[in-house]
Amino acid sequence: MPSPPHPVPYQGSKRKLAAAILAHVPAGTRRLIEPCCGSAALSLAALHAGRVERVHLGDSFAPLVRLWDEIIAAPERVARAYARLWRDQLAEPRAAYDRVRARFNRDGDPARLLYLLARCVKSAVRFNAAGEFNQSPDRRRLGTHPDRMRAGLVGAAALLRGRATTAAADYAVALAAAEPGDVVYLDPPYEGTSGGRDPRYHQGLDRARLIAELTRLRARGVAVIVSLDGRCGDRRYGAALPAELGLCHVELPAGRSTQATLHGGRAETVESLYVSPALAALAAGGCARPTAGVQGDRRGQGDRRRDRDPRGVRLAGADRP
Ligand SMILES: C[S@@+](CC[C@H](N)C(=O)[O-])C[C@H]1O[C@@H](n2cnc3c(N)ncnc32)[C@H](O)[C@@H]1O
Repeated sequence: MPSPPHPVPYQGSKRKLAAAILAHVPAGTRRLIEPCCGSAALSLAALHAGRVERVHLGDSFAPLVRLWDEIIAAPERVARAYARLWRDQLAEPRAAYDRVRARFNRDGDPARLLYLLARCVKSAVRFNAAGEFNQSPDRRRLGTHPDRMRAGLVGAAALLRGRATTAAADYAVALAAAEPGDVVYLDPPYEGTSGGRDPRYHQGLDRARLIAELTRLRARGVAVIVSLDGRCGDRRYGAALPAELGLCHVELPAGRSTQATLHGGRAETVESLYVSPALAALAAGGCARPTAGVQGDRRGQGDRRRDRDPRGVRLAGADRP
C-alpha cells in the first residue's frame, strides 16, 4: 500500500511512528481525536488505513488549523499558492523567505505558513517574544517541490473531506468533547527536551494540568493514547506519567539519534506512549500488572496481569479502557 499523504512538514511529526501507534487503535473506531494535531500524521494514517470513520483535528496554533481548513476545502488553491511562493524564491531564496515570513506575521495566510514550514530549519515552528514566527530558512534546501506538495495536499484532502472536523483551541476543549467509543491521541509539546516555555511551539507543557485533564478523561471512560517524551540511550527526557492514571507504558523505537551520530555515538532514540489498557491489548496482547491500587481492565480481555509483555509493554496501573 502506498504511504499516507503528509503534506505539512512539521517538527515532531509522528509520520514515521504512525503505523506503530495505529496498532493501538481498534479497527472501526468511530472517531479519532487529535487535540494537538500538528501535521495530523496519525489521523491521515488512520483514514488511509481505513481504521477510523472520522477524525477531529485540534491545535492551539490557529494559523495551522486554518491551513488544515484550507487544505480540506480547496487543496488545489493551496497547491497553486504554494507553487507561486516556491517559484518566486528561486532568484533570491533568502530575501523571498524573509518577505513571506513578514507577510505571514501580518496576515497568518495558510499557504504562506505551508511555505515557511517547508523551507525553515527542521520544519520547526519558533516564535519571538512578540509571538511572531521567527524561524530561519534552511539554506541547504528549497522546500518540497510544488508537484510533490500538490500530490500530498490533494491526497490529504481526499481523505479528510467529509470525515474531519477542526478547531483552533486548547487541547482541553477537544478532550471535554470526547466520548466513550472515541480514541484520543494526545501528542502535546514535549516537556523533557526543553525547560519552561517551549520556543518550538507557541505554548509549553503544563504537566499538572495535563495530568488533571487526563484523569478527567479516564474517569469518563474514554480510551486514550499519549505520546510523551522518551529516551535516547540511557538518557530519559521528561518524567513518566503517574501510575494512578492506569495507562500502559509502551516504548517505540524511533531510530538512531542524529545528535549522538554527529558526536560519534550510536544511541537509539525511544519514544514513550501511554496507552489505555484495552488499546494496549490490541497491539501487544496484554497489559501488565496494575499498580497504585487499581484493578484489572473492565473489559476483561483475557489475562493481562504480567509485569512486562515480550513486546515491551509495561503497565503503569490499569483499570479503565
Ligand atoms: C508534538 S506537536 C504534535 C505533532 C503531531 N502529532 C504530528 O504528527 O505532527 C505538538 C502540537 O501541539 C500544539 N499545542 C501546543 N500547546 C497546545 C495546547 N495547549 N492545546 C492544543 N495544542 C497545543 C502545537 O501547536 C503543536 O502543533
